Amino acid sequence: MRLKDQVAVVTGAGSGIGRAIAVRFAAEGARIVVAELNAESGEQTADLLRSAGHDPLVVATDVTDPEAVRRLFAAVDERGWPVDVLVNNAGTAEAGLMPTAEVPDDRWHAQLRVHLDGTFYCIREALRRMVPRQRGAIINLGSVAGLGGLPGAIAYTAAKGGVIALTKGLSQEVAPQGIRVNCIAPGWINTPMLNHLPEKWRPGMLKHTPLGRLGEPEDIAGVALFLASEDSAFVVGQIISPNGGMYR
Ligand SMILES: NC(=O)c1ccc[n+]([C@@H]2O[C@H](COP(=O)([O-])OP(=O)(O)OC[C@H]3O[C@@H](n4cnc5c(N)ncnc54)[C@H](O)[C@@H]3O)[C@@H](O)[C@H]2O)c1
Repeated sequence: MRLKDQVAVVTGAGSGIGRAIAVRFAAEGARIVVAELNAESGEQTADLLRSAGHDPLVVATDVTDPEAVRRLFAAVDERGWPVDVLVNNAGTAEAGLMPTAEVPDDRWHAQLRVHLDGTFYCIREALRRMVPRQRGAIINLGSVAGLGGLPGAIAYTAAKGGVIALTKGLSQEVAPQGIRVNCIAPGWINTPMLNHLPEKWRPGMLKHTPLGRLGEPEDIAGVALFLASEDSAFVVGQIISPNGGMYR
């Protein structure tokens, strides 16, 4: 058991990558906090965990709302759980692609809100609990879009680039306090998020992925487990890109 009794808060745990991370961490002994905007899908993840004998804490949470994030962490406190691991996974893609000159304000701000504001609000609350204990692991979900750019999705690209820079800066700030911050920047992963992209993109996604297949959420969960566990005890401020060989 690589995460025995550790408490992991996973945002966006109701679907795709977040759900796979929650399931994998629980199988490794972690106590899971399912923080999900969509209460129904959050409950579905919780049911999966319960059917495997776990007892997750489920808190319907919009990570873009700082008050909701405060309530999330207060609920963890109330259960008497410390916070050992935070996975900032909640996110949304832009609906289709759009030339930057046509991007409306709300499309821009929606991306910065969920990926940057949401990540920051959760980190702030987590640090208030991790710093006094001088321990913790924070894993942020970036994207290859934030490394190499995704034309037509300028807001998503900028938001994920911000998450990568945030990871680098924060990791240096809090490493002396025993807190490791790292980032996973996946390539194309087979989750409901890909439904936001045009179907005609699929062949291109495969063409640019030398492994010849999309990634599965479990491919990312394995990397997250490494970053959450003591196996990565000397890994700080890294951007790990599981992408099937895509050059970035
Ligand atoms: N799928 C990919 O190809 C891919 C590639 C690179 C990075 N990512 C990143 O991985 C993360 C997970 O994506 P996924 O592919 O599993 O997508 P997904 O759509 O399957 O899951 C995202 C989850 O986040 C939740 N969510 C959205 N907004 C939220 C909010 N404000 N508060 C709380 N929860 C919220 C959704 O309800 C959903 O359950 C995202 O940050 C995404 O940007 C995905």
